[in-house]
Amino acid sequence: MVAALDPARIPLHRIYADLAHLMPLISPPAEYAAEAAHWRAVLREKLGPDRPAVLELGAGGGHNLSHLTTDVDATAVDLSEPMLAECRRLNPGVATIAGDMRTVRLGRTFDAVLIHDAISYMLTAADLAAAFATAAAHLRPQGILITSPDRYREDFRPPAVAHATHASGDRQITYFEYTHDPDPHDTTVETIMVYFIRSADGLRIEHDRHLTGVFARTTWLQLLAAAGFTVESRVYDLPDWPRPYELLVGTRR
Ligand SMILES: C[S@@+](CC[C@H](N)C(=O)[O-])C[C@H]1O[C@@H](n2cnc3c(N)ncnc32)[C@H](O)[C@@H]1O
Repeated sequence: MVAALDPARIPLHRIYADLAHLMPLISPPAEYAAEAAHWRAVLREKLGPDRPAVLELGAGGGHNLSHLTTDVDATAVDLSEPMLAECRRLNPGVATIAGDMRTVRLGRTFDAVLIHDAISYMLTAADLAAAFATAAAHLRPQGILITSPDRYREDFRPPAVAHATHASGDRQITYFEYTHDPDPHDTTVETIMVYFIRSADGLRIEHDRHLTGVFARTTWLQLLAAAGFTVESRVYDLPDWPRPYELLVGTRR
C-alpha cells in the first residue's frame, strides 16, 4: 500500500534548483521562437533599429532571450544560480546577476526591461508593484517594459491541466501539471507537477510544486500606471497557446 502524497509536502520550485538541468528538455528553447518574434517586433517598433541595452528580470534559462540576443545587449537577473548557469550555457554573451526582481538595484539604466513568465512568481499585488518599481528604476525616460501575464483572474477556470513529452538523445521527459486555486480569496494559485524521466538507467518520477500569482487585468494596468508607465497592449495568436497572447508594453514616463 502506497500512502497518498500530501501536496504540502512536495518541495517548491525544484525545476529551478536540483532539477534545473532538466529545463532545456522540459521546455526546449526552440519552442520559444514564435513568441520571441513578437517581443523582438515590439523592441524594434518602440526603440528603432539600434541595438538596445536590455535587462531581463527572472530570465531563467534564457530560452526566450536566446532568440533576441542577435539584436540586443542583454543582462539577465534571476533568483536561481542553477538557472543562471543554464542561461550562460545557452547565451554565452549575456551578463548574469543573481537577484530578486522585487528588490534588485543594479545602479544603471537600460533601454528596455523584459519580464517574461517569471512575473507569474509575484504572489501579491505588493510583489507585482515591487517588480514594476524595479523595472522603472532600471529604465531611461521613454525606455520600455515588456511583460506577459500568463493568466488573468477573470479567465482562470481551475483546474488548468497541461502535459507534454520531449526527447533528446537517450533521455525523454513527460510532464503533467495541474494548477488549482486552494484559496480563491487570495491571489496565489498552486501547480503540482509530475515529471516522468526516462533514460538509459530506466524511469524516474519526480514531483514539484509551484506557487504563482493571479490578478485581474485591471490590477496589472493600475499597478503599471502607478509605477510610472504608459501602457499599451499587443495581442497575438500563438501556435499551441490556449488563448490570445497579450504583451503589456509600458513606456516609462
Ligand atoms: C519559467 S522560469 C523563466 C523562463 C524564461 N522565461 C525563459 O525563457 O527561459 C521562471 C524564473 O523566474 C525566476 N524567479 C522567480 N521569482 C523570482 C524573483 N522574485 N526574482 C527573480 N527571479 C525570479 C525563477 O528562478 C525562474 O528561473
